[in-house]
Amino acid sequence: MKIKSIRQVKKLAGKRVMLRADFNVPMERGRVADDYKIVAGLPTIRFLLRYNCKIIIITHLGRPEGRIEKKYSLAPVARHLGKLLDKKVNFADDCVGLKSGTAVGKMKPGEILMLENLRFSKGEGKNDKKFARQLAGLADVYVNDAFANSHRRHASMSAIKKYLPSYAGLLLPEEVENLNKIFHPRPPLVAVIGGAKIGTKISFLKKISRKSFKVLIGGALANNFFASRGMEIGQSLVDKESIKLAGRLKQKNILLPIDVVVSDKKDGGGPAEAKNIFKVNKNEKILDIGPKTIRLYSLFLKKAQTIIWNGPMGMFEKEHFKHGTLAIARVIASRSRGRAFGVAGGGETIEALKMTGMENYVDWISTGGGATLAFLNGEPMPGLKGLVK
Ligand code: 3PG
Repeated sequence: MKIKSIRQVKKLAGKRVMLRADFNVPMERGRVADDYKIVAGLPTIRFLLRYNCKIIIITHLGRPEGRIEKKYSLAPVARHLGKLLDKKVNFADDCVGLKSGTAVGKMKPGEILMLENLRFSKGEGKNDKKFARQLAGLADVYVNDAFANSHRRHASMSAIKKYLPSYAGLLLPEEVENLNKIFHPRPPLVAVIGGAKIGTKISFLKKISRKSFKVLIGGALANNFFASRGMEIGQSLVDKESIKLAGRLKQKNILLPIDVVVSDKKDGGGPAEAKNIFKVNKNEKILDIGPKTIRLYSLFLKKAQTIIWNGPMGMFEKEHFKHGTLAIARVIASRSRGRAFGVAGGGETIEALKMTGMENYVDWISTGGGATLAFLNGEPMPGLKGLVK
């Protein structure tokens, strides 16, 4: 694999570097709730600081889709980054315009400036050339370290590379190298796939099932499979389109939970009960995998030499329904960095892994959710084009 890396830039010292990061992090009451993506981006920032670059950070937050929405402002993210680096991170509250232009003009070597949310501009999502050219006009070099957004054909990921010498940051090649090991796995490969919507996962499920010994399904994803087979799932989360898609997946190595934890309160507030999957009542909601499923899935995970995990097994944010997800997280973590090569990806997956305190045991925690699935699926990755061969 060939990477056009930031390490290859000649005469980097003092240059204006536009660093495309993915700091699309969960926020709570105007503060960063989980900074794993920001922390993952620090080595590239520190590398550029060693060369006294003027670092202009561009990123998105949420999906404001071309509208300015205060709740998606990056000002708190800039402050959080400043705390992590113990260094002032300046902020411009536009990304192309007078304010960002003036702020860049005033930058001194070794300074950091973060620009406001790229997705406040319509041009970003449209991969608009004019918008890309305006961004590019602020810098001498473009660096993509936003692996997690590299499946998006957006101006700051794709079109911008036409207007600036472009390189990969330090995180991006690590993501690609580690995910390549899932692409060419040491058998047996076991995939654990949970979460809700099947739409984004259907073609991944098909592909990964061809390479896998077993694909273990959990979360609301499983409900669609149950419903497609005419089984009673009560009030559980499903959507019509996903049921249709699940009905088309007939691979025998795709396994579903044999027991589940249910509640008769829609919000999962009531008491939890574990029961056989064929015993779910009309008024109940499936909110976790049951103990027998945990045991069964663990047996397969213990056989694996390669493991990929994406998506929780249930409503893990609620005390009563976190056990399935956390138990599977513990098994994956304890098999990784030893017998198996273990990879986990996606915001909720990482959140759950962190709840076990075992996140450091997993070989690679990908910052990507959708991007990781797209990469493993062999889909086009506009952000990697021209940087990774
Ligand atoms: C992510 O969090 O997966 C990336 O930042 C992409 O975000 P998006 O799904 O809103 O495009």
